[in-house]
Amino acid sequence: MKVVHTVRELRDQLRGQQRVAFVPTMGNLHAAHLSLMKLARQHGDPVVASIFVNRLQFGPNEDFDRYPRTLAADIAKLERERDVYVLFAPDEHEMYPEPQSYKVQPPDDLGSILEGEFRPGFFTGVCTVVAKLFACVQPRVAVFGKKDYQQLMVVRSMCRQLQLPVEILAHETVRDPDGLALSSRNRFLSVVERAEAPRLHRLLLRVCEAVRAGAVDGTALEARARADLTANGWEVDYVSLRRQRDLNPPVSGEIAAGEPLVVLAAAKLGHTRLIDNLEV
Ligand code: PAJ
Repeated sequence: MKVVHTVRELRDQLRGQQRVAFVPTMGNLHAAHLSLMKLARQHGDPVVASIFVNRLQFGPNEDFDRYPRTLAADIAKLERERDVYVLFAPDEHEMYPEPQSYKVQPPDDLGSILEGEFRPGFFTGVCTVVAKLFACVQPRVAVFGKKDYQQLMVVRSMCRQLQLPVEILAHETVRDPDGLALSSRNRFLSVVERAEAPRLHRLLLRVCEAVRAGAVDGTALEARARADLTANGWEVDYVSLRRQRDLNPPVSGEIAAGEPLVVLAAAKLGHTRLIDNLEV
């Protein structure tokens, strides 16, 4: 695997390549990231991964400074798996050589709900860095995880509207055996919190099962899940049943009519904010 830190070296390595498959990450790689790289390998060649902790997508009170940076260990994992041909690991000056005054704004509707509501500026940061990374790597396909469901939808809509010639592939959420979705932030959980954390997935399962069994009062299901989390010490941002196609709440009759839905949640356990979702 070639590790490059500059756009120039990256372009040198990729000259003439037409079928690049790309996996952008912020590093601290775990099994889910590695699984995204495997999927990329099935859909293109060579596979390029990036590791860049993107300051632009963190709010002022978020965990940018303590986000885990483990480049040497990440490189060792990628070398072991042998799926990635080039790792692009730019520093901040390489990605943002001048103040980033041009930004890619997510659409008002999709960008301002759920994560967009609780993390103002987050999707602008994500869209801007992903658009820049696409310009650097020029992939034909790129892989994103369903764990960040709304991010996947925002990136898809960005490619469509900006007519970026990149096909976006979705990878299923990878979980620990007890259901907790893998995340670089899980390492911040204490032993007690780690034991509590799978509740989030269990409650999403319960909502999905209730809908499948014919429940049509989405608001009641959301309220019950929220109350269960709160009673167990979580600070809940949202638990919300939405339409898969646009992440809007289902309108009257749609649940009963079998409109494809997804239930999404974000909540804090101690200082750690966890997100998860399940397609019904
Ligand atoms: P990061 O959190 O490192 O995630 C990189 C990719 O891995 C994303 O597409 C994310 O959805 C996926 N991923 C993480 N955990 C997963 C899991 N348990 N199951 C499936 N996929 C999972 O998401 C980002 O970085 C950044 O916002 C980025 C897109 C790189 C832009 O900075």
